[in-house]
Amino acid sequence: MTYDFKDVGTASSVIFSGVTLKGTDAGNYNPVQQADQAATITIKEFCPSFSADASGETHGAGGACVSAVDFSMHEKLSPTRLEALRKMDRAHHLHPFTDHAAMHPTGTHVITSGEGVYLYGEEGKLLDGLAGLWCVNVGYGRTEIADAVSKQIRELSYYPSFFNTTTEAAVLLADRLGKMAPGNLKYAVFSNSGSEANETGLKIIRQYQMIQGKPNRTKILTRNFAYHGVTLATASMTGLPNCQQPFGLPLPGFLHAPAPYAYAVGREKDAEAYGHECVAETKKLIEKEGPETIGAMILEPVQGAGGVIIPPPGYLAGMRKLAREYDILFVCDEVISGFGRRG
Ligand SMILES: Cc1ncc(COP(=O)(O)O)c(C=O)c1O
Repeated sequence: MTYDFKDVGTASSVIFSGVTLKGTDAGNYNPVQQADQAATITIKEFCPSFSADASGETHGAGGACVSAVDFSMHEKLSPTRLEALRKMDRAHHLHPFTDHAAMHPTGTHVITSGEGVYLYGEEGKLLDGLAGLWCVNVGYGRTEIADAVSKQIRELSYYPSFFNTTTEAAVLLADRLGKMAPGNLKYAVFSNSGSEANETGLKIIRQYQMIQGKPNRTKILTRNFAYHGVTLATASMTGLPNCQQPFGLPLPGFLHAPAPYAYAVGREKDAEAYGHECVAETKKLIEKEGPETIGAMILEPVQGAGGVIIPPPGYLAGMRKLAREYDILFVCDEVISGFGRRG
């Protein structure tokens, strides 16, 4: 298996099993530098019921998958190729957060390459306003990142740090993060996505409370409009109905307090006072549920997916004070706002 290097480093990267890079050295592959050299990616045998030839011409469903679809970087997809990709996508690819019945009549939107803040796709050049899924914080086509990833994969592509083994790269990164992070935040646990990071956080919270002799502190308090991920527990922490209703979530033990979204309730002119009211409502919720049953309060410093909600002055400090008052852990989910990503 090789990676599509355009996606390395993104939290929600797509990894195609069976993708090989052709016409260029995979390790040094860079979509921008290679653009003029008509670099190609060949997708081989990942479509058992569909085949397409090098021109993208398709040969019907149900046949053996034999050939390839070529992509020339920064080139507009030909209508035939676009159609071939859309057909394969329709046949084999489930998209997260997507109404497939609504999408297919118009066809999937196919992105082929990126450079800086721009993406290139069937419609030409696009400004990537969302930065991938909030995670391409240094832009596309960064040669220094491609080179570092390439070097590391050549040296050691993978080894876990379960039990008593580790790798040089993991130690160096943990050391660097430990020195950068403020206060007593000294340790790093590595994971592959924001959802997994939050799941890991939830386990650490439970374990911490058990070790403290407080095994009943299992409830987690988050907020309306929150977004914390796609797994069962992180979707339960999320406070958006469309992430929960289709799956019968939240799971028991996940509490939602009001978010300081003054605009949503027509209180923009009065945002600070509204923030204090939200803190007061959260206090009531804690009292009602029983503080001794709540393990942690988890919140995004700036709520992203819920509407890019910037908290009014005093709100976050008020929430942290509340957590301290009731001996509840205060956890910030900085998956999209950490490392200076505040816009
Ligand atoms: C605040 C926050 N937490 C967690 C996640 C989940 O991250 P991922 O999509 O990498 O699982 C996101 C994703 O946008 C997020 O915005």
